[in-house]
Amino acid sequence: MPTTLEAKTPRLITALPGPKAQQIMAADAKFMSPSLSREYALVAERGHGAIVEDVDGNSFLDFAAGIAVCSTGHCHPKVVDAIQKQAAELIHISGTDFYHHHLPQLAEKLVTTIPGREAKKVFFGNSGTEAVEGAIKLARYATKRDKLIAFYGCFHGRTLGSLSLTASKNTQRRNFGTLLGGVEHIPFPYAYRCPHGHTAETCGTEILELLEQQMFKRLFAPEEIAAIVIEPIQGEGGFIPAPAFFLQELQRICNRHGILLIVDEVQSGVGRTGKWWAYEHAGIEPDIVCVAKGIASGMPLSAFVAKESVMTWKKGSHGTTYGGNPVCIASAMATLDLIEHGYLENARRMGDYIFGRIHDWPKRFNIVGDVRGKGLMIGVEIVRDQKTKEKAADLRDAVVSKAFHKGLLTLSAGENTIRMSPPLLIDHEQADFAIRTLEDCFRETGKML
Ligand SMILES: Cc1ncc(COP(=O)(O)O)c(C=O)c1O
Repeated sequence: MPTTLEAKTPRLITALPGPKAQQIMAADAKFMSPSLSREYALVAERGHGAIVEDVDGNSFLDFAAGIAVCSTGHCHPKVVDAIQKQAAELIHISGTDFYHHHLPQLAEKLVTTIPGREAKKVFFGNSGTEAVEGAIKLARYATKRDKLIAFYGCFHGRTLGSLSLTASKNTQRRNFGTLLGGVEHIPFPYAYRCPHGHTAETCGTEILELLEQQMFKRLFAPEEIAAIVIEPIQGEGGFIPAPAFFLQELQRICNRHGILLIVDEVQSGVGRTGKWWAYEHAGIEPDIVCVAKGIASGMPLSAFVAKESVMTWKKGSHGTTYGGNPVCIASAMATLDLIEHGYLENARRMGDYIFGRIHDWPKRFNIVGDVRGKGLMIGVEIVRDQKTKEKAADLRDAVVSKAFHKGLLTLSAGENTIRMSPPLLIDHEQADFAIRTLEDCFRETGKML
């Protein structure tokens, strides 16, 4: 019999949380910042592939992947090997002050994944928010303009610059005072709730009109705007894909006015949607791409990649102590290799398989309003009433909690959506387990109505 970690599906041996988990949660409550918003009582001990084991020996199928970070699964042997080898060679030397071969090596590799006619340059950081902060600074520097436009529902990070763009939940901004000036938000094309009745292909026409006819005429002249920042698929906002035409039109508007288009691929990137970058589904070429999460399988690494004509800032304009750390880069090189040689294709194939099995959930389960996403970025919106589309955060939370108690890790997103963002290596058996488990949860939760 395989050990819990070698098994492909979960095994629960205690009530949750188990006794050791309870002890750790008590210590956590005593010493850790209360701002962390834990979804449920998982106290992780070790992981392998798509399986996480907790401190009491329960194992779970991980369809959250550390918020879409563990792209190659937990502790992939090739990633572990790369980290261990590099840790024995050189752990740190700041890339701001000195050279090391890992920096251009990963930058070149990353750039080859980003299609387009123009050459690109890369800046490495440690987290998603740092990638976005850097992109904001670069856009202001390159355009000599200071205004920024973002979208309602978007999440770009929690440091003060990126937080000024974030418009996901007011708790994330409340009590932090005045944020960056010159930032305005417009609606995101949200087909399921489109006030104009458009489809997932056509939703957003009126938003583009609002941008050009209202925003540009009444608030910011386009020649004052440094950048428009968008997630091609909103992540924290509820796994909402922007229609391809919307991204294409946005690019045309940006090009017309010398506005930079910044695409935040922190959650949607690195193969998760079945292409390296989610914006590729729309065939656009953004000016700056923000990357983090899945790039290094859990080691802290981020990047923003800009057209060479945009990244022209002078020596000393921007820097970092840790960004592009050799150990993180070794992990990223192994990660990108694994994704290129199988997991990208697997994400596309397994995404098609899962969508093929769940697209009719709204017909089969009274609390499912919408199923959407691409590849292995899958959102399921939970409603109280399919006709009125009344959002049901309580029912969503009940499904997420029930799934946990059946051994499946998922996360919430937006006000009432469940997100699935498993490692890109999952197979049919694991997909079937997740689908069956959620279907059981929908049935049980649907009876609560
Ligand atoms: C699209 C997007 N941008 C930026 C961030 C911020 O990343 P981090 O938490 O690494 O700072 C996130 C995090 O969830 C994200 O989803």
